[in-house]
Amino acid sequence: MKLNSANINVMVKACRKASKTLIRDFGEIENLQVSLKGPGDFVTNSDKKVEKILIDELLKARPSYSILSEEIGEINNDDSFKWIIDPIDGTSNFLHGIPHFAISVGLEHNKEIICGIIYDPIKDEMFTAEKGNGSYLNNQRMRVSSRSKLEDCMIFSGGPKREAKNRELALKEYYKFSIKVLTPIRKLGSASLDMAYVAAGRCDGFWQRNLNYWDIAAGIILVKEAGGFVTDFNGENEYIQNKTILATNAKINKEMIEVLK
Ligand code: 2AM
Ligand code: CA
Repeated sequence: MKLNSANINVMVKACRKASKTLIRDFGEIENLQVSLKGPGDFVTNSDKKVEKILIDELLKARPSYSILSEEIGEINNDDSFKWIIDPIDGTSNFLHGIPHFAISVGLEHNKEIICGIIYDPIKDEMFTAEKGNGSYLNNQRMRVSSRSKLEDCMIFSGGPKREAKNRELALKEYYKFSIKVLTPIRKLGSASLDMAYVAAGRCDGFWQRNLNYWDIAAGIILVKEAGGFVTDFNGENEYIQNKTILATNAKINKEMIEVLK
């Protein structure tokens, strides 16, 4: 059993509170699938409600911290700390009644992610990590997998969206990985959970283009503190600027970079 830091406690409390609304709204989705209007507006509304609860809770506990959040954008307070929030990651899953989505909250200090939490409210799985203190799933220490041959690995990806500029490139990458691995590539639809699963050793490697910072912020610290690697497709640290992210266990990072070349 680990001792949670004050910031992790704040994040856990905010996520648990917001998840009540999220779970209740998810229960309504099934009815809306058959309505003429569909669940589109309802989901946008859920997103905003969940975001508001998270922001209210986080600001109440840490009034001086800044915020970057998917729906509202930035709240700039003058502090070196910033919360990075994705209220529903895996929105399309949520909208279609597929129980695989998460709340993701990262905490930046001087531009570096120092805490992260990814909460899957349906499976009640709380992934947390703090710099120097390891990664945890429901208070149990997590570690990345030790598979070293790409061929034997469980690989995840996502995208490309219909309007993606580099769709050809993304599909080429998909093709190249698909002939390398024995188990077909998985696309589960929530980038934050993809990264949490790398940290938990369920997935060995995840690559994706065009993600936003809030999709990956919490995942970055989770993977690193579980002993994994987070790089861009060249093996460098420019994954936020380049919008190419590769999160792997400690063994297959190089081999995945070779495939991406
Ligand atoms: P969202 O649910 O918050 O929109 C699906 O591949 C995953 O990628 C989801 O986590 C989704 O986040 C995210 N995503 C966000 N922007 C994307 C993009 N431009 N292309 C592909 N996936 C994107
Ligand atoms: Ca997202």
